[in-house]
Amino acid sequence: MQRTTRISPAEIDRQLAFCGQAAQLNSQLPVRPLAFVDTYGCQQNEADSERIRGFLSRMGYGFTDDEEQARVIVINTCAIRDHAEQKVLGNVGALVHGKRRHPEQIICLCGCMVQQPRTAEKIRQSYRHVDLVFGPQVLWRFPEFLYTLLTQRGRIFQTADEPGSIAEGIPAVRRDRVKAWVSVMYGCNNFCSYCIVPYVRGRERSRRPEDILAEAEALVGEGYRDLTLLGQNVNSYGRDLEEGLDFSGLLERINAIPGDFLIRFMTSHPKDATPRLFETMARCEKVAPVLHLPFQAGSDRILREMNRRHTRQEYLDKVAALRALIPDIVLTSDIIVGFPGETEAEFEQTLDLLERVRFDALFTFIYSPRPGTPAAQMPDPMPREEKMKNFNRLVELQNRISAEKHAAYVGKTLRCLVDGLSGEEGFPLSARTPGNRLIRVKGGQELIGRFVDVKVTGANTWSLFGELS
Ligand code: 5AD
Ligand code: SF4
Repeated sequence: MQRTTRISPAEIDRQLAFCGQAAQLNSQLPVRPLAFVDTYGCQQNEADSERIRGFLSRMGYGFTDDEEQARVIVINTCAIRDHAEQKVLGNVGALVHGKRRHPEQIICLCGCMVQQPRTAEKIRQSYRHVDLVFGPQVLWRFPEFLYTLLTQRGRIFQTADEPGSIAEGIPAVRRDRVKAWVSVMYGCNNFCSYCIVPYVRGRERSRRPEDILAEAEALVGEGYRDLTLLGQNVNSYGRDLEEGLDFSGLLERINAIPGDFLIRFMTSHPKDATPRLFETMARCEKVAPVLHLPFQAGSDRILREMNRRHTRQEYLDKVAALRALIPDIVLTSDIIVGFPGETEAEFEQTLDLLERVRFDALFTFIYSPRPGTPAAQMPDPMPREEKMKNFNRLVELQNRISAEKHAAYVGKTLRCLVDGLSGEEGFPLSARTPGNRLIRVKGGQELIGRFVDVKVTGANTWSLFGELS
């Protein structure tokens, strides 16, 4: 495997120096300038936006959720499905009016969507009010790009295709005080035939364990109670490192950090989810009993066409092995309905797999062709209405299973982490069970950030309800 490129500390210092210079410019303005950062897509994008905010904060910007008030607008985009792209393009188009009123406004687009050459070109041609476009692999250069725009006229496009690197030492402004994202690796090498991610996020590359541990320790020290380790496929962590540490080894080392906190992680690819991982999860007391294990489709033929490199039976065997070690494990998954060529009978196999595994919750998607991926070239005869019908059947079945699984919680007492306000009268707190199911709880705000024993008193399809025991 190719060695991962690491951005030197000197280069990051250079970027931080751009932050300092921008802060100097901004301090001459009559009022503190504001920035608006809007994020689409997955948790990795959320984590990237926290770093964009970190840079912006060092440049002297405050934050607003009102585009009209913002001197800098950053839209961090997603490319996973066409729907996500259309939404971004609509919102970016609408920004043209605000920019006419505030010509000094700088509009930036980043993230996966703009890493696709066809989209970058579309923005260059048809969205001329966008000043800066940069892909996920060069996020660490954001200060340099923005400073250049503050001092010179013109537009900047930085979306060249590159395998990606690792940049440490980027400051973050985190959204939450209780739960934190910790990226452990970036990119994906799997090339599932429907997926755009490997094309826009580059090759798999792992952060060094010492950098991850230092970040995790600092977060625990700041009072964070729930660390979610992020990567497109965390189970292949470490393959590009000399240390010989794999993901299970990393879990063990984070588990050894003193403190009262939980460790979660996503996403796991079934082909790389090993008995060693399950055994490590069972043994490490801080690793939460929850696993997001996407299976995508229930038919072996479709799994092959998807280039998933695992079979239906292998998936079922892994779930059985995991449940033997952790009987109360909460299992969630991703499913695509209507992959090109999927027949009614093949779709039924997805329903059958649902009945067999009985997931706690699912993320369900209708297949969306992504230009440039192999699946986008495959014949796709099933009409959209039929896919929609299947999609609804799937959601109905899962809702029934989720409701049944939730109902079984009633009467139990669980150690839950209170993570915020629920907005619901009667049960004002939002909390999470050990397996990360949402539970709304009676109690006061002072409990936010604390683990409390909660007796489950009610349940519906999406949530549990409870009171302090
Ligand atoms: N169409 C529909 N869903 C997709 N996903 C990825 N690519 C596509 C696509 N082209 C889903 C997969 C993946 C999740 C993050 O998004 O289920 O696991
Ligand atoms: Fe996409 Fe497959 Fe990689 Fe997940 S593992 S990001 S679905 S290519």
